[in-house]
Amino acid sequence: MASAARPAPRARILKLREQLEYHNYRYYELAQPVIADAEYDALLRELESLEQAHPEFASPDSPAQKVGGFVNQSFAPVTHATAMLSLANAFSADEVRAFDKRAREAGEVADGEIEYVAELKLDGLAVSLRFEHGWLTCAATRGDGRTGENITHNIRALLGDKTFLRGKDVPAVLEARAEVYMTQADFRRLNAQLQAEFNRANAAIRAENKIRRAADKKEKPEKKQAKVFVNARNAATGSLRQKDPLVTQSRPLKFCCYAAGELTGAPRPQTHWEILEKLRVYGLPVSEFARRVRGAAGCLAYYDEMLARRDQLPFAVDGVVYKVADLGRQKILGATGRAPRWALAHKFPAEEATTVVQNIELQVGRTGAITPVARLAPVFVGGVTVSNATLHNRDEIARLDVRVGDTILVRRAGDVIPEVLSVDKTRRRKNAVKFKFPSRCPVCAARIVYADDGVIARCSGGLHCAAQRKQNIKHFASRGALDINGLGDKLVEQLADANLVRTVADLYEISDAQLRGLERMAEKKAANLRAALEHSKNTTLPRFLFGLGIPLVGESTAAALAAHLQTLDNLRAATAESLQGIPDIGPAVARSIVAFFAAPNNARVIDKLLAAGVHWPQPMQTSSAATAHIFHGKTVVLTGALSIPRAAAKKMLQDCGAKVTGSVSRNTDYVVVGENAGSKATKAAALKIPMLTETEFLTLVGPPPANLG
Ligand code: IVH
Repeated sequence: MASAARPAPRARILKLREQLEYHNYRYYELAQPVIADAEYDALLRELESLEQAHPEFASPDSPAQKVGGFVNQSFAPVTHATAMLSLANAFSADEVRAFDKRAREAGEVADGEIEYVAELKLDGLAVSLRFEHGWLTCAATRGDGRTGENITHNIRALLGDKTFLRGKDVPAVLEARAEVYMTQADFRRLNAQLQAEFNRANAAIRAENKIRRAADKKEKPEKKQAKVFVNARNAATGSLRQKDPLVTQSRPLKFCCYAAGELTGAPRPQTHWEILEKLRVYGLPVSEFARRVRGAAGCLAYYDEMLARRDQLPFAVDGVVYKVADLGRQKILGATGRAPRWALAHKFPAEEATTVVQNIELQVGRTGAITPVARLAPVFVGGVTVSNATLHNRDEIARLDVRVGDTILVRRAGDVIPEVLSVDKTRRRKNAVKFKFPSRCPVCAARIVYADDGVIARCSGGLHCAAQRKQNIKHFASRGALDINGLGDKLVEQLADANLVRTVADLYEISDAQLRGLERMAEKKAANLRAALEHSKNTTLPRFLFGLGIPLVGESTAAALAAHLQTLDNLRAATAESLQGIPDIGPAVARSIVAFFAAPNNARVIDKLLAAGVHWPQPMQTSSAATAHIFHGKTVVLTGALSIPRAAAKKMLQDCGAKVTGSVSRNTDYVVVGENAGSKATKAAALKIPMLTETEFLTLVGPPPANLG
């Protein structure tokens, strides 16, 4: 915030309170936040520090003093026996150390480190489940922390047979505090289902309108837009806070308990860990990820580990939570009106952020598929600066109604391409123009055609389209294909723009004079490129097939084709039926392969490549001459994920006369390294044992047995 324009503290405090109340309403009540969590946190922090600096303006009603939340009047109110507090947030290791220092200094100062329970911070919504003598009597949302909404019917629908506690010694009263959430996979499935239902309903309305038009009757309006959810947390909130418990029941919700509110009529636990164990004994779901750690160092190590595993977790996690383990010490530390002093949420870097759309452009891919892309004002999200986000397709643009100049929510999680989640229409400029999907390719002006029920737009220009040509060449030169070192994207653009290279086969025909005629092409660079081109001619069949860019044929399909058919001639002669005999090749892929080789243009390019000297080792004869096989008598270890079943790979090796073992030692001759290989690959490297990629392995091993298990 620029200090020159900073308003008087009181005005700013009031403004911040108003904004935070509005965002609480959007988040908790509507499940439709319009700003990213990180932005909300920043507003809250600003308010907190202003109120600290100006205690004269403090108010118990301030969102900085109370738990954010909302009580919808259409659900009956429930007073929590023990308040449902929020958590203080930390964003840095220093803040964690400061928290630990305060915890150590409270009451009796223990020597050395104190124990914490570290847990994942699930990103869902908090509920309180009240069990009396083992039976679920009431379930409520957090609401404003003191009063929540009664959602007992919905929770009952969700719990099925878990509405009572297991075991003999159930407490008189237990308020289990839990997070209701949805896994990422379930969230995506639910959204797809909601969208499909909506599409079906709309198609029916359109059909009906057609009939009405014919009969000259008034038309029914089309449904506006499908209500799909922005993220898994909103899907969980929206699904739980339904008027109709049957709707909640139909939604794939899960819950996980992380604390107890009121707990009476049972032996008093001494530590938070014991509480978690109790909850588990009562048959309630408790996270497998909770762990006892010591000191700030233990907390931070847990954080690092979980952050590294974040993308692999099946559910959304927005940080970790540290809780002072000892309940006596917790009591001494106490709580503010908003959050306990004995717990801390250590947030992960935000995966969602708010920014502005500067432009909407169409990208033409290798096979002509057109992807609309939003050019964004650069924003730091998911650990990197993002300036582009995919808009997926024409329908998605229509669904979002995203326009140039709009303020949007962008998400970047893990290695996934950033995507636009939602548009903040409250911040839309008056003159924002609705985006119109063009009917012609922006690069070559060929007509755009639609596949997949009209969802996927494709440029019909084929290799006449410069964009497709360039993408094809880039793909051919890429690492997994012919790996032409020195032929980067820029150079491909140059070669294509100068019309020196129209198809990949032209690469091997560029003359020195032509190369040197290019801008910024020094002699050394030209010589390097020529050497790389020469080098690339010596390739493998899987690389070559992948490099051709056959639609729907990725690296693993290319490897499977090479392994099963052995030669390019066999593949060129294959029928769609015979191709479907190969594992993982379905009718669509088989048709695509046959169509590719049938196209005269493609045949010409392939013949030219072969004539230019592109070649690969011919496979060995295995069955008749097994003893001559490279793997005969060798000890081989398979590690990592392969595209074919492990058992099949093992059998192929055994058929060549190899011995397949489970661990790497000095006696190992080869290690076949699949994806995400771990310690075995490391050990092989240390022992200098030759390692083979799956592609190399499949090429060397020759055709596999006909029947892959
Ligand atoms: S403990 C008194 N533990 O985070 C302590 N909360 O920002 C209350 N949450 O309302 C919370 N995972 O919805 C706790 N392992 C966990 C949690 C967790 C997620 C949520 C919960 C809470 C919010 C606070």
